[in-house]
Amino acid sequence: MAIPTSRTHEAALPVIDTERCNGCGLCVQVCKDGTLRLVDGKAASGGDSHFGCFACGHCMAICPQEAIVVAGRCLSPADLTELPQAVHCADYQALAGLMRRRRSIREFRDREVPGELLDQVLEAVRTAPMGLPPSDVHVLVLDSPDKVQRFSAAFCLYLEGMKWLVSPWFLALLRLFAGKATHALMRDFVRPLVQAYTSGHARGEDLVTYGAPAALYFYGSPYCDPADPVVAATYAMLAAESLGLGGCLLGGVHPLIQQGRGAARFRRDHGIRHRSREGLILILGYPRVVYQRGIRRSLAAVDRP
Ligand SMILES: Cc1cc2nc3c(=O)[nH]c(=O)nc-3n(C[C@H](O)[C@H](O)[C@H](O)COP(=O)(O)O)c2cc1C
Ligand code: SF4
Ligand code: SF4
Repeated sequence: MAIPTSRTHEAALPVIDTERCNGCGLCVQVCKDGTLRLVDGKAASGGDSHFGCFACGHCMAICPQEAIVVAGRCLSPADLTELPQAVHCADYQALAGLMRRRRSIREFRDREVPGELLDQVLEAVRTAPMGLPPSDVHVLVLDSPDKVQRFSAAFCLYLEGMKWLVSPWFLALLRLFAGKATHALMRDFVRPLVQAYTSGHARGEDLVTYGAPAALYFYGSPYCDPADPVVAATYAMLAAESLGLGGCLLGGVHPLIQQGRGAARFRRDHGIRHRSREGLILILGYPRVVYQRGIRRSLAAVDRP
């Protein structure tokens, strides 16, 4: 038994070196699957497992004796990294400062984003908590202005053929079957959005990706927790900010390329491997504008019952 993902349907295999194991029990404590147990003062697999080892790697990461190796489900000991020293880590002030300076950027200088910076952004994403391993987050990398423009233009052309989605008869059906909030969002947000994208494209204006020189599309698979691509994109946005790039998360494309044959063709044409419940595009580039002030936003509610 194992939790399925698009990458594997198999459980991983933890192997314990009983010569090295000192029986401290730390691996048993952090294993939330129940794979591990202590037998005669040594760690052993064969515990009361809920799902089969899902390769979180926490046992390997915590073992003081390097006595445990997990292999499978896209994890191996080679994926362990040295921890950075505390002096090299951002404290609250540094992190909060970065967050306060960040603004969504939709105005970009005419300058390409070097591939190394995109690699650094993706490296930071690999530290994100993306659901149960192995991560089912996929990234489509559009690493030049041409690629972003082609994607954006193709999306607008595709939308021209999908306008039935926001037609009066379809919206009337939605009102009956999909509830008030969905109907209101479709009528008052999605319909004008589709109109803005397509009419902008007809005028030669890119209102989808704002002429960005690079973009990363984070999406999942049918197995993926919908939050995972969102967590990944958020990490990417903050990493980009720390590298002097500006960016903006775009939610307008993903939901419109999920349903129907046209959507499947669009995904196939652009190398998007799966339909998924959630996905976000992060556009990136060097900012052409400088904001003078931060904005402290309100939350809908902070309840402390
Ligand atoms: C899930 C999500 C989807 C978004 N989609 C879009 C979008 O399609 N187009 C856009 O211009 N901005 C989009 N944004 C950016 C928001 O509009 C932006 O966060 C908002 O303007 C607040 O500005 P700030 O990020 O500078 O605080 C999205 C943000 C999120 C979190
Ligand atoms: S953490 Fe390492 S040393 Fe401790 S019980 Fe587990 S395998 Fe043995
Ligand atoms: S990798 Fe995770 S689930 Fe598997 S044995 Fe180690 S702690 Fe448990």
